[in-house]
Amino acid sequence: MSTLLSFDRVNAYYGNAHILHDFSLDVHEGESLALIGRNGVGKTTVVNALLGQARVRSGSISVDGRARPRWRPYMPAKQGVMVVPQGRHIIANLTVEENLLLGAAIQAKGPWNLERIYQLFPILKERAHTPGTALSGGQQQMLAIGRSLMGNPRLMILDEPTEGLAPVIVDQLGEIIRQVNDQGTTILLIEQNLHLVAGVSRRYLAVEKGSVVASGEVDPQRIEQLQQFVVV
Ligand SMILES: Nc1ncnc2c1ncn2[C@@H]1O[C@H](COP(=O)(O)OP(=O)(O)OP(=O)(O)O)[C@@H](O)[C@H]1O
Ligand SMILES: [Mg+2]
Repeated sequence: MSTLLSFDRVNAYYGNAHILHDFSLDVHEGESLALIGRNGVGKTTVVNALLGQARVRSGSISVDGRARPRWRPYMPAKQGVMVVPQGRHIIANLTVEENLLLGAAIQAKGPWNLERIYQLFPILKERAHTPGTALSGGQQQMLAIGRSLMGNPRLMILDEPTEGLAPVIVDQLGEIIRQVNDQGTTILLIEQNLHLVAGVSRRYLAVEKGSVVASGEVDPQRIEQLQQFVVV
C-alpha cells in the first residue's frame, strides 16, 4: 500500500504563532481517512501547510513518497492532490460551468470531465449557466467537489464540507464522497460531523492543539466515542 501524502513531524506557523506541533500523518492510496478535531486545533492549517499558506519551519511533507525540494503553489495539484476548501470559495463572477472548468486548468488526465460531473450532480447541469454563488449552500458544496474532481485528483482533501448544511444534504454529500472513493480517489475528510465520518471514513486521526492525539479505525456502531474530539 503506497503512501500518497505524508507529514513527518511538521511544525507550522503563521508568523510567530506556532500552530502545528510535530504533526504527523500518512494517507494511504485508496483509503478514506478522517481528520477530526474541535475549532481552532489546526485542521485547516494542515491544508495550508501543504498549500504553502502556513510556513513549515521543520519536518517534511511528501506527496507520493517525494519530499518537496522547492515548494511551488501549483505543486500539490500537479501531483494529484486537490483541496475542497473550507467555505467552498466559489467564484461569484463565474457561472457554475465556468467554476467547474477552473478545476480542469491543471489538465490532469483521468476519468473526470464535465459530462461525468453532471451525471454525479444533475442539479449542476440544470444550473450550469447561472452564477455559482446563486446556488444553495449544499449545491455550492457539490460545485466545489465537482470543481476539484475536474482536476482528476488521486487524493481529494475536503475541509469541513458539511459546515452549515441541513442533515439531509449532509447525507447526500456522504453518498457522493463514498462513490468518489469507491471509484478510486483517495479521501482525506476534515470534519466535526461524526455522522458523516461514520458513513464515509474507515480510519480517523484526532487533533488537539496542533498534534495528533488519537487514531484508529472508525466503528460506526460506536461513533459517539469520538465525541470528545469534536464540538457537538
Ligand atoms: N492566517 C492566520 N494567521 C494567524 N493565525 C491563524 C491564521 N489562520 C488560523 N490561525 C490560527 O491558527 C489556529 C488554528 O486554526 P485552523 O484554522 O487551522 O483551525 P481549524 O481546526 O481548521 O478550526 P475550524 O474547525 O474552526 O475550521 C487558530 O488559533 C487560528 O486562530
Ligand atoms: Mg478549519
